[in-house]
Amino acid sequence: MKAAVLDDVKKFKITEIDKPTPDNEKVIIDIIKTGICGSDIHNWDAGAPKGLVMGHEFTGKVVDPGNRTDLKIGDRVTTLPISPCGHCEACETGNPQYCSETWLHAVGLSLDNPGGLTSTIAVRPDMVLKLPDNVKDEEGAMVEPTAVGLHAVHLADIKVGDKVLIVGGGIIGLVSAMFAKLEGAQYVAVSETNEARGKKSVKLNVADDWFNAKDEHFIENVMAKTNGGFDIVIDCSGNTKAVESELMSVKAGGTIVLVGVSTKPIEFASILAVMKELKIQGAIAYTKEEFKDCINLIANKKIDVMKFVDDILPLEDVQKAYERLTSGTDDAVKIMIDPNK
Ligand SMILES: NC(=O)c1ccc[n+]([C@@H]2O[C@H](COP(=O)([O-])OP(=O)(O)OC[C@H]3O[C@@H](n4cnc5c(N)ncnc54)[C@H](O)[C@@H]3O)[C@@H](O)[C@H]2O)c1
Ligand SMILES: [Zn+2]
Ligand SMILES: [Zn+2]
Repeated sequence: MKAAVLDDVKKFKITEIDKPTPDNEKVIIDIIKTGICGSDIHNWDAGAPKGLVMGHEFTGKVVDPGNRTDLKIGDRVTTLPISPCGHCEACETGNPQYCSETWLHAVGLSLDNPGGLTSTIAVRPDMVLKLPDNVKDEEGAMVEPTAVGLHAVHLADIKVGDKVLIVGGGIIGLVSAMFAKLEGAQYVAVSETNEARGKKSVKLNVADDWFNAKDEHFIENVMAKTNGGFDIVIDCSGNTKAVESELMSVKAGGTIVLVGVSTKPIEFASILAVMKELKIQGAIAYTKEEFKDCINLIANKKIDVMKFVDDILPLEDVQKAYERLTSGTDDAVKIMIDPNK
């Protein structure tokens, strides 16, 4: 079967890989739609690990239920892509995101478990979740990034009336902004270096305002608008400039939640965190409950994630999709790949 395999720095190769064979344990899934994630972009930028088949956000159709007696052929499912051990303290307390094995064999993020940039994959049975009939294929593929935003906002501990800044208006930023409003924030703003994405956050009605992070008066603009800064700042971009802007735009006593991932060390003036008595909180992935909550929120029409889906392209166009998502000028935030297109 055809797959988009990471071949070099910013380069895919469309090539044949082996189809997984049923083993009475793993669930074999035919991919319907796979989303491209900001985390995949880090691998693409580095061209490593070579041979990786990405795609950890997907909806698929069961072709072999493995040991899942509750699933049948044809069921539509999505999967937590993580690979927690299931028996350490973190796993037993419902926090698989802390498990030291969580990323070792993650689907679409490790060499031993190819992701959705191909037509058929095998996934461990305990991570598979059946999608209700009224959840569209694209919505199923949106569950994973939506759960990242939900987890970040839970950790941000937003109070009704808070002012919240989201730094980075990619998909993680946009879903975090959406949940910040649902948590009762009175004012949610997005800061962006990509004007098109900034404007889009307001157009999609997840942000009240957007600020141009490249504007030399950025901090003055933010301070004037918020009357002294934000209660909560959520980093969804992960770089030194972004974190610097967060330390300046958060209020004294406020919280910065770091969701953005940087492959290089980030330097910041820790004196600002000291003087302002800031709380700096990391956020990684999600719990299984949050993942399920996102499926329910979508099924019950409490959130609209379809509005974030910009385009659906065939496997052959994966290279173009990545180039578009990293152009710095395009307003697309979520492009999906349909391997059957
Ligand atoms: N912690 C987790 O569990 C987790 C999960 C998924 C993604 N991530 C990370 O979160 C980040 C966001 O993911 P995404 O899919 O939305 O990625 P993305 O690349 O689509 O979005 C990042 C956005 O940040 C903007 N940006 C860059 N520098 C900025 C600055 N100084 N100020 C304001 N905006 C700036 C970019 O223009 C871009 O639109 C990525 O680093 C990704 O790896 C973390
Ligand atoms: Zn993702
Ligand atoms: Zn564990």
